Amino acid sequence: MGENRQKDKSDDRGYQIGSRFQKETKYSPGKMGGHVLDLNSIPRPYKYYKSPLAIIQMPEPLTKGEPNLWKLLQKRRSRREYNAGRSVALAELSSLLWATQGLTAHSGDTFFRTAPSAGGLFPVETYLSVRAVEGLEQGLYHFRPLTFDLEFLRKGDLSKDLAEAALQQDLILDAQATFIWSAVIARSRWKYRQRAYRYIYLDAGHIAQNLYLAAEALSLGACAIGAFYDDEMNKILSLDGEEETVIYMAAVGRPAGAQ
Ligand SMILES: Cc1cc2nc3c(=O)[nH]c(=O)nc-3n(C[C@H](O)[C@H](O)[C@H](O)COP(=O)(O)O)c2cc1C
Repeated sequence: MGENRQKDKSDDRGYQIGSRFQKETKYSPGKMGGHVLDLNSIPRPYKYYKSPLAIIQMPEPLTKGEPNLWKLLQKRRSRREYNAGRSVALAELSSLLWATQGLTAHSGDTFFRTAPSAGGLFPVETYLSVRAVEGLEQGLYHFRPLTFDLEFLRKGDLSKDLAEAALQQDLILDAQATFIWSAVIARSRWKYRQRAYRYIYLDAGHIAQNLYLAAEALSLGACAIGAFYDDEMNKILSLDGEEETVIYMAAVGRPAGAQ
């Protein structure tokens, strides 16, 4: 069997970046980084824009109704068909934001959130492309968990640009909103150095699963999106792609056929 397999570069395990990454970010006894943490420069896990077009306070998230977690887990699916003509209520969006990155407790100056984060460093930022949300103009927004509000960054429907940058995934065109998660690498690198890159992606996975479950609880549909042209997506968000870079996305919409 082995002889007939075509040999290409991806077989060269020692060389490829994926396996090198796995190897070079390993922890083992005696190899744990060895650097001293500079406690005077703990990165703050909050990003603020200097002059957003507006700041929109989010309403109280809808967290009542006690949907059964076990049933939500059973029901959760990636839903890609949305009723493009409908909209999503601001309170529903608020609940989704809270589920993904809402603050739930604090110890001194450190706030904890609905989703776990390695070292409590919270490297992930949330951007929203809004197409049809009641009470919000179409455009690009940045979510601030600490003040539970949105910074309005850019006017206009971005879904066509986003769909193109996401390898022509048309589900974005019908989605009422698209979540775009970026990572501010330095927040995590401060403590974890190269291993930070593992943790950042794990953090994003937790956040996205919270979105899936909250969307299901609200009878909305969500679909994770990992396939996109990185440079194009960063350009849409005006991110440099190095210190802060888009790592994950999710479309959210009113499922087709829903009342
Ligand atoms: C990391 C990751 C990336 C994904 N990227 C995409 C994507 O770009 N487009 C898409 O339609 N679905 C994407 N999905 C959704 C998967 O296709 C989906 O989870 C899988 O088919 C299993 O179906 P289920 O989520 O309904 O259980 C992604 C899921 C994950 C976890």
